[in-house]
Amino acid sequence: MRIYDIIDKKRHGGELTKGEIDFVISGYMKNEIPDYQISALLMAICINSMSENEVYYLTDSMVNSGECLNLDMLGDLSVDKHSTGGVGDKTTLIVAPIVASLGGKVAKMSGRGLGFTGGTIDKLEAIDGFKTSIDKADFLSQVENIGICVIGQSQSLAPADKKLYALRDVTATVESIPLIASSIMSKKIASGSKSIVLDVKVGSGAFMKAKSDASLLARTMIEIGKRFSRNVRALITNMDVPLGRCVGNALEVWEAIEVLSGRGEENLKNLCISIASNMLSCSLGIGENEATLRVNDAICSKKALSKLKEWVCMQGGDASCIENPSLFLNAKYKKEFKATNSGYITAINAQMVGTACMALGAGRIKKEDSIDKNAGVMLNYNYGDYVSKGDPLCVLYSSSDNLFSEAEGLLYSAFEISEQAPPKKDLILEVLK
Ligand code: URA
Repeated sequence: MRIYDIIDKKRHGGELTKGEIDFVISGYMKNEIPDYQISALLMAICINSMSENEVYYLTDSMVNSGECLNLDMLGDLSVDKHSTGGVGDKTTLIVAPIVASLGGKVAKMSGRGLGFTGGTIDKLEAIDGFKTSIDKADFLSQVENIGICVIGQSQSLAPADKKLYALRDVTATVESIPLIASSIMSKKIASGSKSIVLDVKVGSGAFMKAKSDASLLARTMIEIGKRFSRNVRALITNMDVPLGRCVGNALEVWEAIEVLSGRGEENLKNLCISIASNMLSCSLGIGENEATLRVNDAICSKKALSKLKEWVCMQGGDASCIENPSLFLNAKYKKEFKATNSGYITAINAQMVGTACMALGAGRIKKEDSIDKNAGVMLNYNYGDYVSKGDPLCVLYSSSDNLFSEAEGLLYSAFEISEQAPPKKDLILEVLK
């Protein structure tokens, strides 16, 4: 086999065989095929797409490039979730303890934030002492014992995806549905859970800007899951505006505690209830209505909040912060950002709010950058609310008061206020199985 012929075949719209895809991935991992030839192949895939079989073979090849976690001891109870990334997405902090408190087993590996989107690991590390690096044996025993463990992405799972993703990132080949689907699913399959609930975001603050693309991505991932005998469900959700009220690591932990205490913003709460109900329904094999009743009860009875405390404690975190959540609102400097005119809020551009948070110190431009866990933005009003000139639209948090002016500039562009009330927008656009 010659890599030249494989590139040429894909360039002309041909369908690659399992043998050819395995040849590419193993040759790349052994450094026998150079970056420039893989880049050419990735570009041909971006342009000509892949068949269902090709996407499956590519996922399988990436899964086989590394280790796979064996969660067989958890039976059908193991359940994972994945969000395609957004602004203010703290759902893992909320749904994982809900599901674990009701008997599901959440063995989860999460990422860090990069650019304007946040990452669950950074949010968890906003809790003093919380360890996100745990060896495999302890990870598995914690999941067996308390039903939940969340750690950073293991380097040994699907290493081919890591190498390919780094190349895609610098060759304008990230935005391809077959490449995104196989990338996400290779990590989820290697992570071992029997059921997987995907939150595919669509909108100005998401990878996918059109709903039709988000649905296609979701369907592609569900089909991959079926071929690996995994039970996959996908929610298509709106990411035009930030999710919930808070963006920024410590602020989002505060908001997660609010929801688990029975408070919190309605949209965020409803999304969490829906994700958790789907996770529970898959892992316990119960109907969705029954699952939703149990999820609501876990929130009202504070069973899920107790599970959060137990989880934080087990991973070395200071659980007393969970009882005293105002400790998460502890930035050295705070500043109100006021409305410049009266009217209805018709847009809060999620990507710009994420970028404003980065300017306040909450995010990274490069992977190596350090972050200010206390930095971020808390919205006082949301899409569709009426505000009067001078009302504080949000509060900016930072450890450094000279970072406010850049963030304010971005927020001026993020908010749109107009005389006409905007149409209502659903947060959950579709649920696919
Ligand atoms: N997230 C991933 O893990 N992979 C992609 O290709 C895109 C988003």
